[in-house]
Amino acid sequence: NNPPWPAFRGYHTYSFANATMGVRLPTILSKAIQDVLLTVNTLSAEYLIKDLLACVKRMEKLKAELEGNGVLRPIKDDGEADVALWNKEVAKYFLGKDFMNATWLFAEAYKYRRLRECFTLSEHFADYDVFFRQKCDTFSRSNDAVFELSGRFGELFCHDQTKKQLSADELLEKEKLMFHELTQICLWGNSTDLSLLINMTEEQIKSLQSTGGDHLAETEKNILGNHLEQLWELVKKLKDKVRDVDADIDEPYGITGKRKGGRIDFVLDNAGFELYCDCVYADWLVQLGFASQIRFHGKRYPWFVSDVTKKDWEWLLNTMVYGHLFPEASSAERESLRKMGLRWKEYERQGIWVYEQHPFWCTGYTFWDLHAEAPDLFLDLSKSDLVIFKGDLNHRKLTYDCAAPASTPFETAIGPMSSAAGAPPVCSIRTIKSDVVVGLGPNGEDIAAKLDKNEDGWKISGKYAVILLSQGRPG
Ligand code: F6P
Ligand code: MG
Repeated sequence: NNPPWPAFRGYHTYSFANATMGVRLPTILSKAIQDVLLTVNTLSAEYLIKDLLACVKRMEKLKAELEGNGVLRPIKDDGEADVALWNKEVAKYFLGKDFMNATWLFAEAYKYRRLRECFTLSEHFADYDVFFRQKCDTFSRSNDAVFELSGRFGELFCHDQTKKQLSADELLEKEKLMFHELTQICLWGNSTDLSLLINMTEEQIKSLQSTGGDHLAETEKNILGNHLEQLWELVKKLKDKVRDVDADIDEPYGITGKRKGGRIDFVLDNAGFELYCDCVYADWLVQLGFASQIRFHGKRYPWFVSDVTKKDWEWLLNTMVYGHLFPEASSAERESLRKMGLRWKEYERQGIWVYEQHPFWCTGYTFWDLHAEAPDLFLDLSKSDLVIFKGDLNHRKLTYDCAAPASTPFETAIGPMSSAAGAPPVCSIRTIKSDVVVGLGPNGEDIAAKLDKNEDGWKISGKYAVILLSQGRPG
């Protein structure tokens, strides 16, 4: 049940695994320690200070283990819902392995679980998020793109028919163009993730977040494996679906009792700006009748620095409605953001948007094991009409994070997530930030070889991307 290609490991010096395990992760831990110390300085009660300093001590120990390439140990029973899942995997594959010779994907995920343990073993800080400050801060510095999008999408969408009454085909053609644009907005929202962009200037972040039409036409060239057209073909058919909606909820956005569209799932990646782009996209899919329900899947605790937790989700929606994050914004800008936030909260209240957090998403398993290790989750996803996996880490998990040739078809690369009975349509929307690259078509090796030769670091810059679709296998 494994792919025929070797998984990347920390000791592979040719891979980003090596720099990540050796340098990036200890740096991330150091920054996390600084964050906790900032909080310690704000405390006055001795019992809290002592409790939080004990967390710092555990973090320092973890950092030393990481830097000294220590041997992986089982996770302590800290009451988390995933202890058994973790320790099963540790026992099965990783006993005796160290940070560098375990698979990169597992070792990196394990570090975030151990970081979690530093806090769950405390009495008062079990839910402390060492990355929360950074996540909020980057969103607050994304004002240009935030208001550009709220300015365009804050109001309810309606086709401009004032100049000319458009035929059904013309309307669909317009929707197709918007779909292309919004999918790209959702895609490039993934390039500004905190674990990589620690040293980015404001200007660099702004240029990555630019959402204008010309910019998107230009960047579409950088989508090396591009199934946008196939994705549109799938999504447009969802308009013909109808779902019964609970009779007792009132439906300002649709027909009472019935709602047009299918079920779309987002397996989320990063909080803040990326999540905001995902929601703009999801909002449009609901309004245009492509989706009657969107289910968002987030993480149960801080993960790979910037990933979305429930707290980040709530923070975003509430800061849009009530926050004062953007002191320089005009009142019209603030109002557009507020309006959009209110609509999103209403979707949530009505069960049109649902936020979920299954324990499996915070484990070291790849998605080749999803159907076997989390059958309930697989069964649930199999009811979806489309599961969109956002970001680099999800892509690594879908593809087993192994050295598959770039021409490998996406469906082959994701194994059981395309071939197991009940596999739903799966789409990976990802800017490339790590070694694994598949789905580039029959000339994939040539494309990759050319980039290897001409553009140092093309696999980690987030400049290139893939949008890949597997049609799934109905059960
Ligand atoms: O540490 C490497 C990594 O796991 C890469 O997948 C990527 O560089 C980053 O962390 C996470 O990216 P994303 O937020 O897009 O999953
Ligand atoms: Mg992430």
